[in-house]
Formats: sequence, structure tokens, C-alpha cells
Amino acid sequence: MRVLACLALVACGGSAADPVAHRARKAAWDVRPAGGTLAIDPGAAPPELLDAQGCKPCHAAIVDEWAASRHALAWTNDIFQSEYSARPQPWCVNCHAPLTTQQRDLAGPQAAQGVDCATCHVRDGTLVSAGKAPSSPHSTVVDATFGTPAFCADCHQFTFPVLDPTGVAVAMTEHPMQTTVASFEAGPYAGERDGCLTCHGSKHGHAFAGAHDDGMLTAAVTLAACAIGDRIRVRVTNAAAGHAVPTGDIHRHMYLRIWRSSAPESLVQAFFGRRFEPAPDGGKRTIWDSTLAPNAVKTIDVTSTELGGDADEPISLELTYVFIVNEFPRGAHAPDAPVTKSIASERATLAELPACEVAPVPSAR
Ligand code: HEC
Ligand code: HEC
Ligand code: HEC
Ligand code: HEC
Ligand code: HEC
Repeated sequence: MRVLACLALVACGGSAADPVAHRARKAAWDVRPAGGTLAIDPGAAPPELLDAQGCKPCHAAIVDEWAASRHALAWTNDIFQSEYSARPQPWCVNCHAPLTTQQRDLAGPQAAQGVDCATCHVRDGTLVSAGKAPSSPHSTVVDATFGTPAFCADCHQFTFPVLDPTGVAVAMTEHPMQTTVASFEAGPYAGERDGCLTCHGSKHGHAFAGAHDDGMLTAAVTLAACAIGDRIRVRVTNAAAGHAVPTGDIHRHMYLRIWRSSAPESLVQAFFGRRFEPAPDGGKRTIWDSTLAPNAVKTIDVTSTELGGDADEPISLELTYVFIVNEFPRGAHAPDAPVTKSIASERATLAELPACEVAPVPSAR
């Protein structure tokens, strides 16, 4: 009744009477500036709302699914920790163990939960979600923008920061660092009703599988080769991602390699990723971007002669995804976790390759 009265009068809470102010009003989950410059404050929440284990008696399937996700591993995973421990900057923590309550003890069990239930769902001391079930025992604040791309953008879309000497972000530059949401919004899936969840949905809604998931990665990027005479065409396609591949962390990249084992010196290689150079404002400018936009195809044409070896010797093709800056980590902070994944590989003679529909043009490479 009260809600209806509010709608009819359009004068509840002051700002509703002013359509501009109404639209500008912040979403319930939106409690910090862009770029993770601050930690996320969950408000005066009871301790049981801040612990994923406390949700388990009633949401066991969700808790289990989340626990295996990269969100749950965001603070503890080896790839993150190896980079963070080399240069522990407070800015990093604002997305990898984001809550003010987690940051009171970075070695403690709360921080170890990484991007946990409360990180996404608790604000101002209570739960926030896109809807509220009739059977819900919670005093949930319903916000229709919860889970939309704008919500994910709080951590998945940001520019390079300006850090003070202690690693605290004092400002954000204009230079893109992670652009997953902008890349999605510029692409063919931007109009999907379920936004990121169109593809990142899961049985219990909380797996958020991505590049660390074999199925997601191999479905996303396809490798195909064909030949006409001694000319070979290799095509790498972003077939299923709603944003560029690679996306996310600046170090993500892929290599396509084409070679014959008897002539490794003639290896042909293509790089998919981004390169940066320092900019005067303290950020880094993108000077190279060979990531694949949604549905984009990268064509690499070569001749059999160029690859060396005998004409009837098999040609090897491999597409490798690399999670960190160099696929051969070394030094005290090198992660133990695998840092590469083979997306696709093939070995075939010229005669075994299917015929191309269009003649490859090796000189155009
Ligand atoms: C005593 C049981 C119980 C506990 C403990 C519990 N929930 Fe719930 N929760 C429910 C029920 C029942 C619903 C409504 C139906 C459903 O989604 O299962 C619900 C719904 C929700 C919703 C959807 C919004 C809504 O209100 O319908 C969210 C989000 C949620 N819970 C988060 C959490 C989190 C996070 C925790 C742990 C911090 C937690 N719950 C602990 C029982 C519980
Ligand atoms: C504004 C939020 C934000 C901040 C701040 C941030 N990250 Fe991240 N980081 C992310 C997101 C989102 C991903 C996931 C994207 C992806 O999978 O590539 C990620 C992924 C990573 C990964 C890859 C982990 C893996 O599972 O392979 C590393 C390493 C990493 N971040 C290191 C850092 C370091 C070091 C800092 C501080 C210098 C930092 N991050 C600051 C949001 C952030
Ligand atoms: C990365 C952010 C994120 C994290 C972390 C997260 N959730 Fe969610 N949660 C969502 C999104 C997005 C939805 C779907 C909202 C919608 O209906 O569109 C959702 C929905 C829910 C729902 C209601 C509907 C459903 O899917 O059953 C419950 C209950 C819930 N979450 C519980 C939890 C619990 C418990 C945890 C911790 C184990 C958790 N969530 C962690 C983002 C998150
Ligand atoms: C059309 C399907 C689709 C949509 C829509 C989509 N994604 Fe993805 N996403 C994928 C696939 C497939 C992968 C695995 C390939 C890869 O890592 O790029 C992926 C990977 C990722 C990764 C992992 C990148 C890494 O470095 O590990 C992140 C983070 C991500 N998506 C976030 C998002 C966000 C945020 C949105 C919404 C703005 C979104 N995705 C929308 C399909 C989609
Ligand atoms: C509070 C910050 C935060 C929010 C909000 C958030 N994420 Fe993430 N997300 C992260 C971080 C940090 C990582 C990287 C964890 C790691 O591997 O170190 C990540 C990783 C991922 C991955 C990569 C999984 C993989 O296999 O590499 C996907 C996919 C993803 N998030 C999707 C989403 C989507 C979709 C949303 C919105 C519904 C969302 N995230 C909201 C912080 C966040």
C-alpha cells in the first residue's frame, strides 16, 4: 500500500519528484568510487552475514559453487599472490579482498574468502539482491541493477591508477587497464537481457567460469586451418565470448604458433594481447591491442615453403593462453600454479588439411 501511494504521489524521499536527481541516485550496491580506490564498506552487518560459511545451512549449493570459483580464490590464488607479494599494494586488495571488514586482518579467514557473498550482497548492514523471494527470511534491499554489467564494472572495468608511494590509489588516470565491460557494451551481446549472466550464469548462479575454466576457454576461441596448393590459411576466431579475448588482467595473452618440427627456426607466431607504455599522468597508454573482439577472426596466411622442412611433413599448430606476463615464470615469486593453457592444437600434412574456400594470400601478412 505504502509503495503504491509513493508511486502515485511521486514525492517520496524528496528526490523522486526530480526525475534527474532520481536517475542519478546511486544503486544500493554502489558504495565506492570507480576503480577500486576504496574498500567496500558492508556497513554495520551482523557477523553471520559476513561469513560465507554462515550461509551454508540454507544455501549449500550456492556456497559450494562459489567456493570453487575464482571469486572465492581472488585473494588466495597463487597467480594473484605471486604478483601481489612481489609488490604488496593496498590498491590491489580493494578488489581481491574488497571488504573493509576483510582488510582488518589480511592473513585472517575473512580475507581468505576473497570476493565473497558479502562483497557482492551486503551493504549498509543488510542484504542487497535483484529480487526477494516470498520465503526469504532476510530484510533484503531489492535493487534491479544488482548483477547488471554496471554492477560487475565496479571491479571489471577500470583505468590505471595513480598510486602514492605506499601503493594507495589517490586518483584514476584516463588509460584503460581492464576493459571487459566496455568491450561487452561495444559488442553484439550488449543488448542481451541478462547482460554478463547470459554466458556467466551457471546451475546455482555463482560459478562465474572464465579463462580458468577449460570448457569456457576452448568454446570461446576456435582454431581452423585449410590449404590450397602450398598456401595455408589459419583462422583464430572469438566464437563465444561477449568481450575481447583475452580480456581482464593486463598480462593475459595468447600465442598462435605454426611450425614443422624439422625446421623450428622457421616458426611463424602471432601474438594476441595488449602492450602499454608509461604516460605522463602516471598511467599507461595502450600502444598495441591485438585482442579479438566478439566474433572477430584473425587470419594468418603462410606458405609451406616459408615453414621449412619437407612439403609432405606434418605442420604443427598450437594456440596457447598465457595467464601471466611471461609463460616461463622465474624467481622467488613465480607461481606454482600452471600459467598456460593449450586452447587448441593440431598436426596435419598439407594434403590432410581441408581445402580453403578463399585462396590464402601469404604476402599480405
Ligand atoms: C536460515 C536460512 C538462511 C540463511 C542462514 C541464509 N539464507 Fe539467504 N535465503 C534464505 C531463504 C529461504 C531465501 C529465499 C529462497 C531462496 O533463495 O533460497 C534466501 C534468499 C537469499 C537471497 C536472495 C534475496 C532474497 O531475500 O530472497 C540472497 C542474496 C541471500 N539469501 C543471501 C544470503 C547470504 C549471503 C547468506 C549468508 C551470509 C544467507 N543468505 C544466509 C535462507 C537463508
Ligand atoms: C578495480 C579492481 C581490481 C584491482 C584494484 C586489482 N585487480 Fe587484479 N583483477 C581484477 C579482476 C576483475 C580480475 C579478473 C580478470 C581476469 O580474470 O583477467 C583480476 C585478476 C588479476 C590477476 C589474475 C589472477 C588469476 O586468477 O589468474 C592478477 C595476477 C591480479 N589481478 C593482480 C592484481 C594486482 C597485483 C593488483 C594491484 C596492483 C590488482 N590485481 C588490482 C580486479 C582488480
Ligand atoms: C560476484 C558477485 C556475487 C557473489 C560473490 C555472490 N553472489 Fe549471490 N548473486 C549474484 C548475482 C549476480 C545474482 C543474481 C541476481 C539476479 O537474480 O539477477 C545472485 C543471486 C543470489 C541469490 C538469489 C537467487 C539465486 O540464484 O538463488 C542467492 C540466494 C545468493 N545470490 C546467495 C549468495 C551466497 C550465499 C553467496 C556466497 C557463497 C553469494 N551469493 C555470492 C552475485 C554474487
Ligand atoms: C557471449 C558470452 C559472454 C558474455 C555476454 C560475457 N562473457 Fe565473459 N567470458 C565468456 C567466455 C566464453 C569466456 C572465456 C574466454 C576468455 O577468457 O576470454 C569469458 C571470460 C571472462 C573473464 C575471464 C578473463 C580472464 O582473463 O580470465 C571475465 C573476467 C569475464 N568473462 C567477465 C565478463 C563480464 C564482466 C561480462 C559482462 C560485462 C561478460 N564477461 C560477458 C563469455 C561471455
Ligand atoms: C568486488 C569485485 C568484483 C565484482 C563486483 C565482480 N567480480 Fe568478477 N572477479 C573479481 C576478481 C578480483 C576476479 C579475479 C579473481 C582471481 O582469479 O584472482 C574476478 C574474476 C571473474 C571471472 C574470471 C573467472 C576465470 O575463470 O578466470 C569472471 C568470469 C567474473 N569475475 C565475472 C563477473 C561477473 C559477470 C560479475 C558481475 C555479475 C562480477 N564478476 C563481479 C572481482 C569482482
